[in-house]
Amino acid sequence: MLVNVKKLNVQQFIAQQITTEMVKPYSFTAQAPSNIALVKYWGKYANQIPANPSISFTLTNCHTDTSITFEPKKQKKPQLEVYFEGKQKESFKPKILTFIARIIKYCTYLNHFDIHIDTKNSFPHSSGIASSASGMAAISHCIMQLEKSFYPEMPLSYFNQKSSFLARLGSGSASRSVAGEVVVWGKHEQVNASSDLYGVSIPFQLHKNFKNYQDTILLVDKGEKVVSSTVGHKLMNNHPYAKARFEQAHQNLGAMLDILKNGNLTEFIQLVESEALTLHAMMMTSVPYFILMKPKTLEIIQEIWRFRAKTGLHLCFTLDAGANVHLLYPNDEKELINHFIKEKLAQYCQNNQYICDELGTGTRTK
Ligand code: DP6
Repeated sequence: MLVNVKKLNVQQFIAQQITTEMVKPYSFTAQAPSNIALVKYWGKYANQIPANPSISFTLTNCHTDTSITFEPKKQKKPQLEVYFEGKQKESFKPKILTFIARIIKYCTYLNHFDIHIDTKNSFPHSSGIASSASGMAAISHCIMQLEKSFYPEMPLSYFNQKSSFLARLGSGSASRSVAGEVVVWGKHEQVNASSDLYGVSIPFQLHKNFKNYQDTILLVDKGEKVVSSTVGHKLMNNHPYAKARFEQAHQNLGAMLDILKNGNLTEFIQLVESEALTLHAMMMTSVPYFILMKPKTLEIIQEIWRFRAKTGLHLCFTLDAGANVHLLYPNDEKELINHFIKEKLAQYCQNNQYICDELGTGTRTK
């Protein structure tokens, strides 16, 4: 099943040419958060079109801070420099160059500038937390600030939509880190404004049970992943269960929207954990198969289930494409659950390390 991206309305994202007076130095900053998917994106078509819609909670504390200077180019070809935590980082360049190559037709003004990127993450380096979502959202936000300085009348809705559109071309999940507490990316029949091209906020008030919802990330394994997300997505192409999975994701997203509206935490837990295990089941049934969970990931899951049976508290887990465990729980159960994390779950983490995060609102200018 191939999606023809030309049928999607990408024309709206092509910026007009700029005038020579506009080619001067500019400097912008952005802080973009990570996000955690409740219904997962796993599998994609050409041009970063998702095979199924996904929905995520935007986080706060796990974020990337990025400053970009755009200087009129000095040579025929624009140059790129990337600094990470104050040091030049050549290894980040290929991904950013691929990103620029993908977005250049929508941002032709970039052809006039040398780009200098300075970036840092709030979470520990190589903690196994994917920085591509927050990283790409931050870069896209800076690029849109540049575009807005050419066209100051640009409405905020367009700014956010195009930021998310650009971020998606850097990393799919980045499209969900731009604006809103809960974001849907990918066309879904229950969200009119939803699109395969960018993320949108849920079109209703999030139930109060989810206010300041907590996400504690247990750092189980900080090592290099055995299989990257890029390869993992590709393995969904000829996956024996792909069709059923993509249909299930549509259904699960519909069910999740109802839960977020009505605040049913028992149903929330069931759906979130099932999505996490389904994601990893897809990995275990790919050809070739692979496993990203570690023994400690499973031990933590068992501990959570025992704790929940004993206390009746609404603690559940979800997983990204890695061994780390995201613990999701309501803000008003925080005290008892934090005690359990500290006393019991921290021992499963590398150097007892975990990160406390919570629901946030998206990328902002710093
Ligand atoms: C398991 O967004 O990292 O976290 O588009 O290739 O950059 P690319 O993939 P990426 O995939 C994220 C996969 C996931 C699930 C999710 O966040 O929805």
